[in-house]
This record gives sequence, structure tokens and C-alpha cells, in this order.
Amino acid sequence: MVGTARFELATPCTPSKCATRLRYVPMDTAVEDDSVGFDLTILHHAAGFGTGSGPAISQTDGDDDHLPMDAFGGTWSLTVESREAFLAILITGGAGYVGSHAARALRRAGYEVVIYDNLSTGFRQLARGFELIEGDIADEAKLRTVLERVDAIMHFAAHAYVGESVGNPRKYFQNNVEAALSLLNSVLDTGIRRFVFSSTCAVYGIPGRLPITEETPREPVNPYGCSKLFFENALEAYGRAYGLRSMRLRYFNAAGADESGEIGELHEPETHLIPLSLRAATANGSALQIYGADYPTPDGTCVRDYIHVSDLADAHVRALQYLEAQRDEEADDSLAVNLGTGRGYSVLEIIKAVESATGHSVRRTIRTRRPGDPAVLVADPAKAQRVLGWVAERRLHEIVSSAWRWMQSAARCHAA
Ligand SMILES: NC(=O)c1ccc[n+]([C@@H]2O[C@H](COP(=O)([O-])OP(=O)(O)OC[C@H]3O[C@@H](n4cnc5c(N)ncnc54)[C@H](O)[C@@H]3O)[C@@H](O)[C@H]2O)c1
Repeated sequence: MVGTARFELATPCTPSKCATRLRYVPMDTAVEDDSVGFDLTILHHAAGFGTGSGPAISQTDGDDDHLPMDAFGGTWSLTVESREAFLAILITGGAGYVGSHAARALRRAGYEVVIYDNLSTGFRQLARGFELIEGDIADEAKLRTVLERVDAIMHFAAHAYVGESVGNPRKYFQNNVEAALSLLNSVLDTGIRRFVFSSTCAVYGIPGRLPITEETPREPVNPYGCSKLFFENALEAYGRAYGLRSMRLRYFNAAGADESGEIGELHEPETHLIPLSLRAATANGSALQIYGADYPTPDGTCVRDYIHVSDLADAHVRALQYLEAQRDEEADDSLAVNLGTGRGYSVLEIIKAVESATGHSVRRTIRTRRPGDPAVLVADPAKAQRVLGWVAERRLHEIVSSAWRWMQSAARCHAA
């Protein structure tokens, strides 16, 4: 007969690392001998709890660690030996801007990190100090060998230029949908059940109301946003059908750099406002293009919610811990969370912050509006606080000054 038992673990362990050994041993014998007792097969394992299965257990009891063993008589005790082991997390796109910051945050929190990246828009230097496997998420064979070594996945790998997605939607649906679905199926087939996804506020399109909550209708207005929404929907469906636990993190505008000064924002081409404004404050940088100064906002320029990339990275760690702690019966397949500060800044306010951090004026040119640019995008971050206990801690001046430090050190490295 085979039975199951619940057990508590003091440290997070994984079956793949054999970090935990479960044995039933007779209570009435002082057993030092390894040959007495039965090892359990671990069926399910998460931080802090799990279930195991073993032979000849006639009765199960979730709370009691003294289980009668019919076949052998007497009372047996379930012993759990667990040694310290860390969960291993695969980060797709970990050689990119946000993924490389998340990799560091995970390592600081005690996780093992493996980065998987095809370096299409990423940089080897951002993955320095980590195991980097160069590969495409569409390469099932390569990916599976890596997935077998990990316990959860954070999926950052994607194409992420809104404008490019309008001109070349095929590229976006191919990578962000087709290749991402191939990744998702490989994840499922390998038995991994925890998935953290980099989504975006672009899934909301042009919101009818502000601030944007998770209940705001998801009506993307460009292929990039559509591709992210498609994958969100796939995660929801896989959650309901297969028990995959996912957290869909909808970032607002990521900015800033890690406090170590070792990594920061690197995009080629760069399209984000803060690095472009910083460049426009340097002698060699070209002037900043401001698209529209006639929006219905206090100073006429667009307002966005800028979030420090290190705050974003911390939210990923919390999202993972949330999924780890969630028990099967509590699994919620529709967890989507906004990651923003709840405070918007206009383009002109950002320019002012950049001028104050650099001590130089930002050269600028006003252009006409770009199609599809909403006037204001600001998050309601209340759900992130409620669910993850997370709030963005770093303010605009920290975002801008960390980005400036990073840009200066990157320029020094380049010159060296
Ligand atoms: N930066 C932001 O402000 C922002 C805002 C909202 C959402 N996001 C999302 O966050 C994620 C990361 O954005 P980022 O700014 O760090 O971009 P990034 O371009 O710096 O990082 C993406 C990484 O994924 C890798 N990659 C792309 N396609 C791949 C593939 N098929 N196989 C393997 N690796 C692949 C790239 O080489 C790169 O290293 C993206 O999914 C993006 O949609 C970013």
C-alpha cells in the first residue's frame, strides 16, 4: 500500500537536489542503522511544506508525525532531514536591462540563478558573474536541458519596442507569442509550476480612467501590447487547466540603475526618456525629441509613472516567494499585479530632474505627437502592496542619479 504524508520544512529545498530525505523509522527502536525504515518519494515540494509518498503506510495524518505502519506493527516516526539548499531560478532575458537587475536581487535573496539569453538585445557584460547559457527560448532541446535543473522561471526575454512592433508585427508575434509559447510548453512538460512574467502597462492601451488598476480593461493599441496580453491569457488558461502558478507583473516605466554601479540601462537603440535626456545633457549627445507639448496635462507633455529598476527587481523576488508559499488549494490562476509608484512625472519634470542631477541643461526639440501615445499613464499600485507587501521605495531623484552614475561609468569603461 502506498500512502502520503504532509511534512514541514525549515528551509526551502528541492527534490532535484535531494536536499531533503524523508524516512519512516520505528519509534520503539533507537535506530541508527540506515537499513531500517523507508525512504519516501517526494511528491510535491515547496518552501516550507510538501507531501511525500512511501510504501506500507496504512494511514495518513497531516498534523501528526506518528504514523501507524500496518504491515510492520508499532508506531513509526516520520523524520525529515533537510539540509540548506536554494531554489534555482531560470531567468530568460537575464542579460537584458530588467532581467540583469532581477538576477542580482534573486542572488542577494539567496537563490541560485541561471541566465538564458540569445543576446539579441542583451549584453554579456550585464550577465557577468552569473552562469549565462546562450540560447533562444524557441530552441526547445537546449532549453529543456536547462529547465531540468531549475525550480521556477522568470521570463523577461522579449522584443520590447512599441514603435518597431507597429512596423514589424511579425517579429513581435514570433518572439513574444510563438517562441514564448514554446517556452511555456517546455516549462510545463518539465514539471515546473512557478512562472513570473514581465508584462507591461501597454496591455491597458489608452485607459479610460486613472490611476490604472488591474481591473482596467486590457485593450492594447499596438502589436507589442497585444503580444504581451496574448501571453498573459495563455498563462491564465494554463493556470486553470494545468495548475501552473504564475504572476504577471505589469511594469510601468522602468528606469535607473543598480546601486553597485556595475549594471544599468543598456538598450540599442535607446528609446527611453531618462537615458535619452541624460545623453542630451552631455556635450556629445543629440538633442532630446519631445513628442507633443499640447497634451491635456499641466505642462502639455506626456506623464508617465517611472519606477526604479531595483524596486522592480525586489518585486520579482516577492512574486516568486508568494508563488512558493502558495498552497495548491489556494492557487489563484489570475494573479496580475501593477508595478508602479502611483505618481506620474511629465517629460518636462524629468528634464528638470536630469538637469539637477547632471548640472547641465538638456537640449531639446519639440515635435508633433506620436500616434497612440496616451497623455497620462499612472499605476494604482495598491494590489502590489496588498498581495506582495511591496511598495516602490526609491524616488525620482534616486532613479535619475543612479542612471547618471551608470552612464558615466559605462562611458569610462568604453573609453578605457
Ligand atoms: N524596460 C521597461 O521599461 C519595460 C516596461 C514594461 C515591460 N518590460 C518588459 O520587461 C522585459 C525586459 O525588458 P528590458 O527593458 O530589460 O529589455 P531588454 O531588451 O534589455 O532585455 C530583453 C532580453 O531578452 C533577450 N531575448 C529576447 N528575445 C529572446 C529570445 N528569443 N531568446 C532568448 N533571449 C531573448 C535579449 O537578448 C535581452 O537580453 C521585456 O519582456 C519587456 O517587455 C520592460
